[in-house]
Amino acid sequence: MLTGRCEGALPSHMTPSWIPPEVTLYGRGRGEDLRNAAELGIAVAAARNVTEWQLVAGPMGIELHAPTALGGLSVALNAAQGPLARRLRGARREDPLARAVGLQRQGPPPRVLDACAGLCRDAMVLAELGCSVLALERIPALVLLARSAALGLRSRDRLRIECAAAEPWLAKLPADQAPAVVYLDPMFEEGGDAAVKKDLQVLRLLAGPPDDPAALFAAARAVARERVVVKRHGRLPPLAEGVSFVVPGERVRFDVYLNPVSAGPATPPP
Ligand SMILES: C[S@@+](CC[C@H](N)C(=O)[O-])C[C@H]1O[C@@H](n2cnc3c(N)ncnc32)[C@H](O)[C@@H]1O
Repeated sequence: MLTGRCEGALPSHMTPSWIPPEVTLYGRGRGEDLRNAAELGIAVAAARNVTEWQLVAGPMGIELHAPTALGGLSVALNAAQGPLARRLRGARREDPLARAVGLQRQGPPPRVLDACAGLCRDAMVLAELGCSVLALERIPALVLLARSAALGLRSRDRLRIECAAAEPWLAKLPADQAPAVVYLDPMFEEGGDAAVKKDLQVLRLLAGPPDDPAALFAAARAVARERVVVKRHGRLPPLAEGVSFVVPGERVRFDVYLNPVSAGPATPPP
């Protein structure tokens, strides 16, 4: 059963057969985490229950635990230490994601709307590199986890994380608030990634199978002032026709769709 408040939930575009599982919050969390849980409508559990999905809160932040029947995997997001912190510290404007959103150019960093925020790691990287980022994620438990980790960011004032289904949000965005860039990282399709990392496995179990991303892409293309960037596994075909240029990464690539209205000359990054 879906619990939690999320704008647009259950989004009409979600796979009808998929209903996200209930996730409760257990533990003595930080005040900000508890306030966020209340805002997101996440119920507080009186006891740790390893047979269900739970967010476990402690003085340092929150961990997400899958039920033991699903392997008991857990995800801890920490922007101050560990892999995410290393990624954030090592982020450069020359990196593929940064080049794809246009960060290597002169001028102020673009305003980015990340419409498939997940654990918000990409959104955090972009915020650390100077972008102002609005991240949308439809699963309340992931929003809570990401907001909790974002408390440790130097750039926390540049990252806003909202619980919403992206299409209706994009559809009602006033024109004067349109972001320069819409970034899409829909769930990897089955078979797209053989060595699925633990974090991604948990994400898949919670967020369910990927939707048909065509509607999301169309909504993104309609609002992005400058470009839509789509993260794809290297082996998968583009999400849509009309790729302006590709920025290759290690395992993934970024397909960039320039929006002709304001794109200017289509100069691929070096
Ligand atoms: C592959 S993950 C994104 C990972 C993310 N880039 C990161 O750095 O952690 C995809 C996420 O997009 C979310 N998502 C997919 N379609 C969405 C939509 N239409 N609106 C909001 N969130 C969506 C899923 O719930 C899932 O959490």
